[in-house]
Amino acid sequence: EAVGCCRVDEGEVMGEVIRAAIAGVGNCASSLLQGITYYRRRLEDDGVRETLGLMHYDLGGYLPGDIRCVSAFDIDVRKVGQPLEKAIFAPPNCTKTIYAEMDESGVTVQMGPVLDGYSDHMAEFPENQRFVPARKKPVDVAAALKKSGAEILLNYLPVGSQKATEHYAEACLKTGASLVNCMPVFIASTRKWAERFRKAGIPIVGDDIKAQLGATIVHRVLTRLFRDRGVGLDATYQLNTGGNTDFLNMLKRERLMSKKASKTEAVQSQLETPLPDDQVHIGPADYVP
Ligand SMILES: NC(=O)c1ccc[n+]([C@@H]2O[C@H](COP(=O)([O-])OP(=O)(O)OC[C@H]3O[C@@H](n4cnc5c(N)ncnc54)[C@H](O)[C@@H]3O)[C@@H](O)[C@H]2O)c1
Repeated sequence: EAVGCCRVDEGEVMGEVIRAAIAGVGNCASSLLQGITYYRRRLEDDGVRETLGLMHYDLGGYLPGDIRCVSAFDIDVRKVGQPLEKAIFAPPNCTKTIYAEMDESGVTVQMGPVLDGYSDHMAEFPENQRFVPARKKPVDVAAALKKSGAEILLNYLPVGSQKATEHYAEACLKTGASLVNCMPVFIASTRKWAERFRKAGIPIVGDDIKAQLGATIVHRVLTRLFRDRGVGLDATYQLNTGGNTDFLNMLKRERLMSKKASKTEAVQSQLETPLPDDQVHIGPADYVP
């Protein structure tokens, strides 16, 4: 049960919205916010409970349109200081535009602490493909969260942002906002952090998300299929390519240890006896613009 949100029975129309903050206004945030607007408009304007593209339309009474973004943080010069509904379409974001007629959000993207969110290897790439950090003083994230009344922070930082993710997690602990950690820095799954959130009475979910129909879920299902059909699996590997900054960022191998661990665990968990470490390999192989 989310702190500060009222729960209702399934199907009941919510009287309240879920006030969310976003760290990292990249491609995931863009798709999420476009999707929320699309599903809300379909309901409000056309009276249609549009479920195409969604696995769960109604979660305990909350519908997609009940989520409002009330604050957002980024570090890119093309996003910081911009209205959120513009920043989600700013380069280097390159995700498919599913809904361009966004409402005015009233939210201006604020400068977050860069810390390890930016990796120097990106400097070798053209600006339209990479992050361009703004030279601005970061805001006090905890104070900004509190001011906006955010109940939940969605963490969409780049892979390898250990320090930056910890900074946002600390801000949640300070303000009582819950944390949905959508990327593979291990917070929710470590005893130390999980205990701190438990003591503070704040929900935390994570770590990492899975694309709706990406390589990891396909690999998981195939692995399970082998088991279900009585076929032994000796070794398996998965090489991912992508053309967004997530993949550009992961060209720096040191940054992706936790991503590799997260994806490997997703597949190993489907096997009764996990494979030896050297018989399973999962990781990004290349950035293909
Ligand atoms: N797309 C998927 O299906 C999927 C699946 C699992 C996990 N993820 C993870 O979600 C995360 C986000 O993915 P994405 O495709 O949106 O990445 P992205 O590269 O498009 O966006 C990352 C954003 O974070 C910003 N940023 C960098 N440092 C920051 C800081 N210190 N504070 C605030 N903002 C900062 C960047 O400027 C950029 O806007 C990644 O870690 C990715 O691995 C994505």
